[in-house]
Amino acid sequence: MSASVPRVLSGIQPTADSFHVGNLLGAVNQWVALQHESDAFFCVVDLHAITVAHDPAVLHRRTLESYAQLLAAGLDPDVATVFVQSHVPEHSQLQWVLGCLTGMGEASRMTQFKDKSQKAGAQSASVGLFTYPILQAADILLYSADEVPVGEDQRQHLELSRDLAERFNARFGETFTVPRTRVMHGAAKILDLQDPSAKMSKSLPGGCAFLLEEPRVIAKKIKSAVTDSDAVVRYDLQAKPGVSNLLTLLSAFSGTPVVELEAEFAGRGYGDLKSATADAVVAYAEPFAARTRELLQAPDHLAALMRDGAERARAVAAPLLARVYERIGFVAGA
Ligand code: TYM
Repeated sequence: MSASVPRVLSGIQPTADSFHVGNLLGAVNQWVALQHESDAFFCVVDLHAITVAHDPAVLHRRTLESYAQLLAAGLDPDVATVFVQSHVPEHSQLQWVLGCLTGMGEASRMTQFKDKSQKAGAQSASVGLFTYPILQAADILLYSADEVPVGEDQRQHLELSRDLAERFNARFGETFTVPRTRVMHGAAKILDLQDPSAKMSKSLPGGCAFLLEEPRVIAKKIKSAVTDSDAVVRYDLQAKPGVSNLLTLLSAFSGTPVVELEAEFAGRGYGDLKSATADAVVAYAEPFAARTRELLQAPDHLAALMRDGAERARAVAAPLLARVYERIGFVAGA
């Protein structure tokens, strides 16, 4: 790929039985679009998934399922480099170096750590959960990524990646690319269907539409979405977050701009909007689930794709790590 196209990297955790519509619209759909106009790297971040207590068999299954879902969503392994984070040991190695440049104070300010550690209870939050954003910075900086396509919730972590890149470069010489955050207009924060004041999250499954769930479950969740009582279909994220969220979903899955949907649903009730949204999401989810199942039924093929992805990723990661080691004064090994 020519040097003039941007390098793009992003990742997703294998911590649920299925991607949800927020993952798809905020992140993965951007990746699918970007793969053709960039030098793209996407990974299933299994190292990040063990920062909270986990079951090994479940993690194993979810890692394969996440990889399969990335392909089912449209990533082409002949075009983009799609890999599993733990297959590339340089991520953990660079994390150590970056961890030694990170202040305790700046790591403590990460809001996701504060939220998650509160949920885990102060006693059980791990050191891994604390250093999670430093590993994320390593994921990004190892590939000299110009752009990182993510949902809104990742902004703060990406700021840390930028700060660490700049700090390293200032101290040891120009080594890392300082990455830009790329969020999707409109879909960067898909809201919880039951509580539209919160973002949709796998940790609150009741308000979360998972793509691999039974179509009738997906439809039921969308049809029982919390809206408001003024019965006007209008996009207004502040005053009408529930209705605006449904419009965002319907627009993304149908390809119809929000303004046209507002006109189409003028004078109609929320029931019609919910039904149309449920139909549009299910129309995507059904073939997506079928493609995912098909990929999982060919484990050897999937394993070969993962191996190839890891090889291509290492071809970029290893020389960058070697440069970092040299810059910081490590004596070259064998
Ligand atoms: P994760 O696995 O939680 O989510 C994957 C992607 O989905 C986006 N997302 C959303 N977008 C819109 N609306 C929502 N409700 C919503 N929920 C999730 C996330 O913003 C993310 O882009 N720390 C990352 C994984 C990671 C990573 C990286 C990302 C590890 N290393 C390097 C980028 C670059 C995470 O937990 O994503």
